[in-house]
Amino acid sequence: MSDLNSLVAGTRATLERVATGFSPAVFASSLAAEDMVLTDLILKAGLPIGIFSLDTGRLHPETLAVIDAVKAHYGYDIALYRPNQQAVDEYVATNGQNAFYDSIDMRRSCCGIRKVEPLGRALAGKRAWVTGQRRAQSTTRAELAVEEDDAAHGMTKFNPLADWSEQDVWDYIRANGVPYNALHDQGFPSIGCAPCTRAVQPGEDVRAGRWWWENPDQKECGLHMVDGKLIRIKSVAA
Ligand code: ADX
Ligand code: SF4
Repeated sequence: MSDLNSLVAGTRATLERVATGFSPAVFASSLAAEDMVLTDLILKAGLPIGIFSLDTGRLHPETLAVIDAVKAHYGYDIALYRPNQQAVDEYVATNGQNAFYDSIDMRRSCCGIRKVEPLGRALAGKRAWVTGQRRAQSTTRAELAVEEDDAAHGMTKFNPLADWSEQDVWDYIRANGVPYNALHDQGFPSIGCAPCTRAVQPGEDVRAGRWWWENPDQKECGLHMVDGKLIRIKSVAA
């Protein structure tokens, strides 16, 4: 079995375990490459894991186009969660549309309104959630386990691609004809909100284009943090 085949087998086994042992479970898709691998594996196997995206209101049109691509390719409607409009309006009226460039606190409060609060709604009543995080993506993810206890949300969190490299992700996408965000072909290895994501130069770190004005140790948006700390509590080995 090739390395990719054995990685895929391991990831399938994790997803099956989530579906059978942690129902109801959901998968958070940012619509980027890693998440398209998981989308393909979940939908082709017909696993009962609902797929949702946090539509922050600041995503690139190319990212939003992936929602239609998933519908066309798999016949599946990704559930969309949007921020509370009043909270967005108050933030913009008080701080300005792009205040997240001013300080880490301003950035975290924007992510709080546009991502973290809607994530809470998406996870309400669930027993587990799945993400596309990989260990090799950043210093903040070096200790990432496949299975973690997410105390903040009171459920188990699965990172079934924890062991995958970026090359593995692209090998899977190409071998299986998986649709993907057009920005990946324009120098964007990692994609978040449009104003907080830039293209990277060859040789630059894959997350160098995310919140590029911040220190690499602080580049997490709150989806994967509890009280300002990364969720690495009682992590369970793969
Ligand atoms: S993050 O810092 O924005 O969270 P990244 O873009 O690397 O980092 O995403 C890591 C994982 O967080 C994704 O694989 C996905 O599971 C989840 N995620 C990030 N952004 C979103 C989003 N807009 N909607 C749903 N899930 C998301
Ligand atoms: Fe706001 Fe940028 Fe966070 Fe998106 S990534 S929610 S625009 S600070």
